[in-house]
Amino acid sequence: MRVNEWFFEVHNDLPREGPGDMRSTRRAYRMLTGLPEKPRFLDVGCGPGMQTIELAKISNAEITAFDVHQPFLDELAKRAKNEGVSERIRLVRGDMNCFDFEVKSFDVIWCEGAIFVVGFEKGLRGWSKFLVDRGYFAVSELCWIDPNPPREIKAYMMEVYSSAKTVKENLQIIKEAGYQVKDYFVLPESSWWENYYLPILSKLPALKKKHKDNSEALATIAEEEKKIEMFRRYSKHYGYVFYTLQKE
Ligand SMILES: C[S@@+](CC[C@H](N)C(=O)[O-])C[C@H]1O[C@@H](n2cnc3c(N)ncnc32)[C@H](O)[C@@H]1O
Repeated sequence: MRVNEWFFEVHNDLPREGPGDMRSTRRAYRMLTGLPEKPRFLDVGCGPGMQTIELAKISNAEITAFDVHQPFLDELAKRAKNEGVSERIRLVRGDMNCFDFEVKSFDVIWCEGAIFVVGFEKGLRGWSKFLVDRGYFAVSELCWIDPNPPREIKAYMMEVYSSAKTVKENLQIIKEAGYQVKDYFVLPESSWWENYYLPILSKLPALKKKHKDNSEALATIAEEEKKIEMFRRYSKHYGYVFYTLQKE
């Protein structure tokens, strides 16, 4: 996937930057029992913050919203202000490959659709030190639902996300990384379409027209279309799985 200026032209002003929905955020949140009065959350790869704002609304949390892309943080700031929750959200721009936080400084690490940047196993193991003892890690990750998917989608995934695992493999990785599973569920297909793919699709005709003589921009747009078409055809075989974990 090319991440260039045209990628961001497609991706700015979307409700969110990956599959997800508020219902699923709430479902994962409900598994976090015994939190302190004012829990400290780290939302890694927060994007424009749909889940950040929902978490601020349903909890007393002080949330550190962390992302590398300043325009997403700016958008999150605007939305949080409109929703009246900006006081409990601290925006931090940085690289999730090298956090600059104190050890044990969060009660919860939240990461919807972004841990792939460092890798599922590396993120689970490497970020654990920032959690208090018995802290929680709520994370969604693309997985194979079908361990024997059709050849076309298998080949495509080798190109775009070759490290995708089955749910069973990820459960083993979670265990070996020192977490207990409180809950896990597959995100509904609607959470790919409603807040992510349909808003992207609605932008593409105008962008194709605007860039009709720009082959690089058109190639970036074509990659987006292919990604969506693959999900349309093969959504039974892969999906996002939302895991709520507790540090052992
Ligand atoms: C697929 S999006 C998910 C965004 C959001 N959690 C959501 O579900 O809408 C991945 C996010 O990770 C951020 N990101 C990518 N690389 C990063 C890095 N090295 N450090 C911090 N954030 C990064 C992107 O800017 C983007 O907002």
